[in-house]
Amino acid sequence: MQKTISCFLFNYSVCNFVAAKRTKMDIVIINGPNLNLLGVREPSIYGSTGFDEYLNQLKVKYQNINLIYLQSNHEGDIVDAIHKYGFSAKGIVLNAGAYTHTSVAIADAIAAVTSPVVEVHISNVNKREEFRHHSFIAPVCVGTICGFGLDSYRLAIEALIQK
Ligand code: DQA
Repeated sequence: MQKTISCFLFNYSVCNFVAAKRTKMDIVIINGPNLNLLGVREPSIYGSTGFDEYLNQLKVKYQNINLIYLQSNHEGDIVDAIHKYGFSAKGIVLNAGAYTHTSVAIADAIAAVTSPVVEVHISNVNKREEFRHHSFIAPVCVGTICGFGLDSYRLAIEALIQK
């Protein structure tokens, strides 16, 4: 009897473990051009923390989420990444950097996929130069978070978790 119970408990926890692994959601963070220089680049605007350091903090905080991170300085790579993850991920957190203000291709990629995309900016783009006030991607994103420093990414993840 004892054996049967412990066998049952073992199977039960193995099943739970497998189910938990299987249900871990993917959230993809995509950073665009020049965001590889965070921590070094214009720290008065973007802060002095590198993204790798911040990403480690996010991974500790969200251990039940599979956080996938990509950065590219090339528009086509960002389009490819949106295609790759945009049909399976729980959501995409996208800081398209300067492509925000120029890229019809990235806007079209976001419109083409099914996963929700949150537009993120570290700085408050609306307080800056006029050319940063227009976003090609805002109309195809579920929402925009900007101006909260690196915390903008966490806020975007929180929004996607609620979706
Ligand atoms: C940015 C704002 C953009 O205007 C700029 O080109 C960037 C960073 C931000 O996170 O504040 O590269 O997206």
